[in-house]
Amino acid sequence: MEFQNLLIEYKERIQYIIINRESKLNALNKDILAELHVAFSEAFKNPAVGGIIITGAGTKAFVAGADISEFANFDVKQGTALAHEGQSNVFNLIADGSKPVIAAINGFALGGGLELAMACHIRIASETAKMGLPEVTLGLIPGYGGTQRLTQLIGKGKALEMILTADMITAVEAQQFGLVTHVVCQEDLLIKAEELLQKILLRAPLALAAAIHAVNAGFTDGVDGYGIEIAEFGKCFGTKDFKEGAAAFLGKRKAEFKGE
Ligand code: COA
Repeated sequence: MEFQNLLIEYKERIQYIIINRESKLNALNKDILAELHVAFSEAFKNPAVGGIIITGAGTKAFVAGADISEFANFDVKQGTALAHEGQSNVFNLIADGSKPVIAAINGFALGGGLELAMACHIRIASETAKMGLPEVTLGLIPGYGGTQRLTQLIGKGKALEMILTADMITAVEAQQFGLVTHVVCQEDLLIKAEELLQKILLRAPLALAAAIHAVNAGFTDGVDGYGIEIAEFGKCFGTKDFKEGAAAFLGKRKAEFKGE
């Protein structure tokens, strides 16, 4: 599919998804959300893609939130549908994805922008990045999973402080809270993201998918995360990748995984 608001690039087994609406600080309108749904669905299915890096065009913003101009006149029903569709079509799709997704936060990540980054499996930031959930300044609350994922990532007290004050935090503060795992200068952001992802892509692909599934299970209501871990662990023994990994270790050579 041809995208109007996303740039797609490939580098070996890495797919880049770049949100390209710089004049509006990459704010998420309905077209971008629809394109993100297609881009991630295709990337997860494409056997040539091992993992994904998502970032924003330019140096000012990752994503400055959902597009406020689009929902300014919404009523209760439309607001509910906006959050519901966004969560299932994009944010949960990414979080539950079978391939690792890294958010490279290159500037403002606010509201839906921070929620997008939080749906990814790993977040790294440039030292100029600013993050926050400012929805209460608009008379709203986060609707794309922000109340849940921020709390999971940094704990209830700090999450409530950020959500209730609407304050932005710096990249260094975000690292201290565990919201991002690395802070680097702007020029090194994608280099760091690629370095991390290339290392992950040396590992067994089916085991990566199983690990994401098991970790997520612990945060899903009514699901026994320990039980899912047992099931996923057991399934790994039925993969060729496991046979290859064990044989490579015992043969003192590097494993070559095929994702089978
Ligand atoms: N929705 C729609 N448009 C947005 C936007 C958003 N979330 N964030 C930025 N934009 C637009 C601005 O309206 C402006 O458009 P214009 O040039 O046509 O007027 C353009 O992007 C540049 O933003 P501007 O506000 O002029 O830049 P700034 O450097 O003065 O401020 C921010 C940067 C990020 C602090 C400010 O844009 C902002 O507060 N954005 C909204 C953040 C927010 O509340 N997000 C949560 C939404 S639920």
